[in-house]
Amino acid sequence: MSQSANNENLDKQLAQKQAAAKAALEYVEEGMILGVGTGSTVNCLIDLLPQMALKGAVTSSQATEARLKALGIDILDLNFVGTLDLYIDGADEFDAQLNLIKGGGAALTREKIVAAASKQFVCMVDESKQVATLGKAFPVPIEVLPQARSYVARKLVEMGAEPVYREGVVTDYGNVILDTYDLDVNNPAQTEKTLNNIVGVVCNGVFAANKANVLLKATSQGIEKFTQ
Ligand code: 5RP
Repeated sequence: MSQSANNENLDKQLAQKQAAAKAALEYVEEGMILGVGTGSTVNCLIDLLPQMALKGAVTSSQATEARLKALGIDILDLNFVGTLDLYIDGADEFDAQLNLIKGGGAALTREKIVAAASKQFVCMVDESKQVATLGKAFPVPIEVLPQARSYVARKLVEMGAEPVYREGVVTDYGNVILDTYDLDVNNPAQTEKTLNNIVGVVCNGVFAANKANVLLKATSQGIEKFTQ
């Protein structure tokens, strides 16, 4: 792809991320405590949040926390907030059942915790994120305790997958990421459980147990809404 075609593609993707974020804002109510995800699509949402007079936010990463703080939005501890009404986040891939792959930004563990603690998960994506089967184009990120990296990698190879250590990345919890290619994700719920059962795995990027309740996909023609 030429440089100018590539730039055009990135502009289109950014416009779609902004449109998806604008659509997600409709779910946010004034005075609520909002669960806020991580990534470039979430950053588009964060830009819109000052108008909503939130009571506060529970965040899925230090990066999101810093952005919200800069806008004067209070950051609350999930332990003192209890169940959240709404969590909004992006995704790296989604399928027809609204199962997701997440973790491109290495924030998967806290993202899964906040999603699990929320009544509703609204996911915002540009159209490039839709796939028939998860894990074929985008590798599944797996957060691993540093000491277990090599052991977990061997277990993944035994499963027929190809784990690649994400060099230079340390998660907010001090762990490492294995980006895992060629993993069989035909049954996302089963794959999620199988990965969780490997000793040393902290969390995996398959979101099936905590998939999106509502998914807003931005296209050149407008927003398409999917619900479970
Ligand atoms: C971060 C994530 C993000 O939601 C995912 O990577 C999508 O990012 P973006 O909105 O930048 O495309 O899971 O851990």
